[in-house]
Amino acid sequence: MAELAIAGGAPVRPQGYPAWPVWDERDVEAVASTVRSGNWGGFPEPGPNAARFEEAFAAYQGARHGILMANGTVTMEVALKALGIGWGDEVIVPALTFAATAYAPMAAGAVPVIVDVTPTTWTIDPELVEAAITPRTAAVMPVHLGHQMADMDRIMEIARAHGLAVVEDCAHAHGQRWRDVGAGCFAEFGSFSHQSSKILTAGEGGTLLTNDDALARRAHSLIDCGRAKDPEEKEFTFGANYRLGELHAALLITQLERFPEQQAERAEAGELFEKLAAEVPGVRIMPRDPRITRWSFYNYLFAIDPDAFAGTTNEVVAAALEAEGVPAEVQYPPMSRYELFQPSLSRLPVAVEHAERLDPARMHFPVAEAAGLRESIYLMESTFRAGRRGIEDAVEALAKVQAHADELRSLPPRRA
Ligand SMILES: Cc1ncc(COP(=O)(O)O)c(C=O)c1O
Repeated sequence: MAELAIAGGAPVRPQGYPAWPVWDERDVEAVASTVRSGNWGGFPEPGPNAARFEEAFAAYQGARHGILMANGTVTMEVALKALGIGWGDEVIVPALTFAATAYAPMAAGAVPVIVDVTPTTWTIDPELVEAAITPRTAAVMPVHLGHQMADMDRIMEIARAHGLAVVEDCAHAHGQRWRDVGAGCFAEFGSFSHQSSKILTAGEGGTLLTNDDALARRAHSLIDCGRAKDPEEKEFTFGANYRLGELHAALLITQLERFPEQQAERAEAGELFEKLAAEVPGVRIMPRDPRITRWSFYNYLFAIDPDAFAGTTNEVVAAALEAEGVPAEVQYPPMSRYELFQPSLSRLPVAVEHAERLDPARMHFPVAEAAGLRESIYLMESTFRAGRRGIEDAVEALAKVQAHADELRSLPPRRA
């Protein structure tokens, strides 16, 4: 008889975990009153709900300005364009992230230069950033991945020494603080996603944060078809319509009101998970960096040692956890595996000149490859909203999968 649920045994947690997003009549009323107002669109930009959310979210993170737009991909494209980054420029991005981080420089016309991540945080390795700088480097885009933040001390030091702009990808980091500075508030821009799975969501949406008045005006202009945003009406840009509608903005206002309580709940549960999961053989916990002074994570990232799981990979172990009722995923392959960078598909005119940097066959990111293809597993945010019992069940499921990992060997292969 099989023990593991994926092989036909009984799951550890058949009731699963709380649904996401969380909503109640407050959210329904916020949308209903926007419907009644007749003011549905994002034009004139920003609409009243958008302006209210931008101000509240910027204040929560600690920035002067928020610019709300369609999603957390175009935010980064707009940030780079507002900084004047484009053809001929290079932008350094990490090898373990969602495709959007590298798409943004390409959409602005620049070349994404990919560097490996550190083995202790799986965020961009600052020393490799420094080694990748050329006279054409214009910016670096650290990603605060999973429950970690990139080493903002070293990144800011390097960026300032070399005159680079910094655009933080904070799609996973709403609420995070590093030495009491909010994620997204360190440098030129911080970019946030409000897509369905994110911890501050309206289904879609994205926000840029900045402390710079001129950059904020330029970003507002870029998302509003290039309309000038300065009092003299001079600063037109080459913009498009990336505005978010007022119905979504209404939801973001009510979701932000709930956010601090959810953040505290996840942080407490995260600490318990780190303590208990460290005891499971073959599981490597990567504790949050102690410089993170407010811990607010999207999903929790940990590593497995495939040898301790009968030689299977993260993909199989995540599927086994899912079957036990624990929401787990792998999410990102290393950047060298993304189709975005297959030269025949991207047809970037710079691909020949930059073949070494853009040809996946020549890319080598040992840490990101090990993480993405064999070791990394995300525990989804809802695991951390089910009290002590929710964490104990998740750890029990992890220990059960490890103890009976030999049953995973007979499963059909998952990743091509
Ligand atoms: C690290 C990272 N960056 C950027 C994005 C893009 O956000 P969006 O889906 O809102 O475009 C996401 C999520 O989807 C992400 O996980």
